[in-house]
Amino acid sequence: MALLDFDFRDPDLHADPLAYQRRFAVADPVHRNSQGLWVLTRHADVLALLRDERAGTDRRNLYRGKLDQGRPYLTHVEHNLFYRSGDDHRRLRAPLSRAFTPRALASFEAEVASRARSLASRLDASGFDLVAEFAKPLPLGVIATLLGVPDSELDNLATWSMALIAALEPAAPRSVFTAADDAAAGMKALLADLLALRRTDPGHDLLSVVATSGLPLSDDELLHNAIFLLSAGHDTTTAVLTGATAMLIDNPEQRCRLAAPTGVDELVRLVSPAQMISRVATAPIEIGDRVITTGSPILLGLAAANRDPAVFPDPDRLDLTRPQSAHLGFGFGPHVCLGAPLARMQIRSGLLALFDRFPELTAQAPPHREPSAVLTSYRSYPLAAHG
Ligand code: HEM
Repeated sequence: MALLDFDFRDPDLHADPLAYQRRFAVADPVHRNSQGLWVLTRHADVLALLRDERAGTDRRNLYRGKLDQGRPYLTHVEHNLFYRSGDDHRRLRAPLSRAFTPRALASFEAEVASRARSLASRLDASGFDLVAEFAKPLPLGVIATLLGVPDSELDNLATWSMALIAALEPAAPRSVFTAADDAAAGMKALLADLLALRRTDPGHDLLSVVATSGLPLSDDELLHNAIFLLSAGHDTTTAVLTGATAMLIDNPEQRCRLAAPTGVDELVRLVSPAQMISRVATAPIEIGDRVITTGSPILLGLAAANRDPAVFPDPDRLDLTRPQSAHLGFGFGPHVCLGAPLARMQIRSGLLALFDRFPELTAQAPPHREPSAVLTSYRSYPLAAHG
């Protein structure tokens, strides 16, 4: 067998990141590629690094090297919590967490369920595209409502969010950053106008709550974290809604278990929309007899870790009653997904509404996945009801 060398330009990686990661999980789970990039694919190692403060999250330098100072996308990277670490990260995360407490979300549950039912009721039984007509508008509408952005801006938000998400791709070409600049600037202008309105006339939305909280957050930080929420909060959920629908069409006997306490997490485990996340070593990190040296970039293969047979027996089998305490689909540790409770709520409500409306669904083609090394993002999934 040829020696494995993790390569971001390899089309096989973009076509099927899980299969690509699994080759490493089997043959070289603590992999160092020819460029000095470390790739970890065993559950135990990925979890250990997510717990380890030496696996840092401040990756701003990566972008400073690529983008000129003052470019809107670089300003976005500089100001949001995702790229910070330690106390600085905690300071930025604390105000946002207020919108995601169980109490805050409970008051939102009826709104999510009603959006899901209303979208499901508009689907045409003779044929519809699940992504465009259901799996995308549901989380987009929900996150926009949470932030107090009017529905009239949803199309813009969809375009801008996708442009920001594309910039997460490690081998992204220059044109992607130009589109990300436009997206960051467009979103910031929209949210800045809303923020000014909320300051004089606060509502119950997140912008109002954070803006009037008195917490130490500059306007730039508030706006860029709101932008991050808008982009982080929708395509990942779209991916699970889409992938889960495909799995439930193939395994109809599982549908009655959708309300099982760990049911949604099993779907997140198997879809793992964030296929890989990145870290950088801020000090030497030992794994067995290997040492990741300071400054080395590290990739954590969440997709492979979530199918590690040492933790998940028969890992490819869908079992909505499987105990789920260990899956890493939402990450782990200080950066664990802030929106996980909201995502779970949307996935459960969304799938219940969809299969309630159409107990029998047939796929006209498999879900069409956008090529990507690090994310699962779906473009379309044509379905029809029968029976
Ligand atoms: C099924 C849907 C989702 C999945 C699979 C997912 C996955 C993840 C993962 C893996 C991380 C950790 C990244 C890392 O450690 O590098 C993360 C972070 C984050 N997610 Fe999610 N996410 C989902 C939905 C959402 C939603 C709905 C929101 C917001 C409304 C959201 C907001 C965030 C934020 C703000 C962070 C950054 C937290 C931090 O850096 O402290 N996510 N997500």
